[in-house]
Amino acid sequence: MFPTKNDLPESTRVTIIETLNLRLADAIALQTQAKQAHWNVKGPHFIGLHKLFDEISDAILEYIDLIAERAVQLGGVAEGTAKMAVQRAQLKPYPLNISSGKDHCEALSSALATFGKAVRADIDSADKAGDKDTADLYTEISRGIDQWVWFVEAHLQADA
Ligand SMILES: [Fe+2]
Repeated sequence: MFPTKNDLPESTRVTIIETLNLRLADAIALQTQAKQAHWNVKGPHFIGLHKLFDEISDAILEYIDLIAERAVQLGGVAEGTAKMAVQRAQLKPYPLNISSGKDHCEALSSALATFGKAVRADIDSADKAGDKDTADLYTEISRGIDQWVWFVEAHLQADA
């Protein structure tokens, strides 16, 4: 921990930084999954999905930055290397043997929803810990993820 004039108690900051780093690992894993989908999707909806998955990847990169920088603002170290993501991320490995738009939408919406569930729980835990700003940050990310789940799932909810 680094000294800081931030007035949140150190015990609160330590707890929050720990969860931020867990979620950072998940977010990094999730971003690589969105790119995996972007590169490998095929089929009649290719161009729409190819662009959507890239937009999702870009949005997740912004969430990654928000999470990592919050950990540093609180006096911690952002542990955002690929190695940390592999060690800590809770997401299931992304399937490498799929190609259809339907399969990628299924896989990526599941990954987004898993991440969204964890972030939604983080809103309450940060609030209970007395850090309303981190709760707000998680709320922003959670709202974004809900939108991406919708965008991806919409491709599965009616026939072409
Ligand atoms: Fe690309």
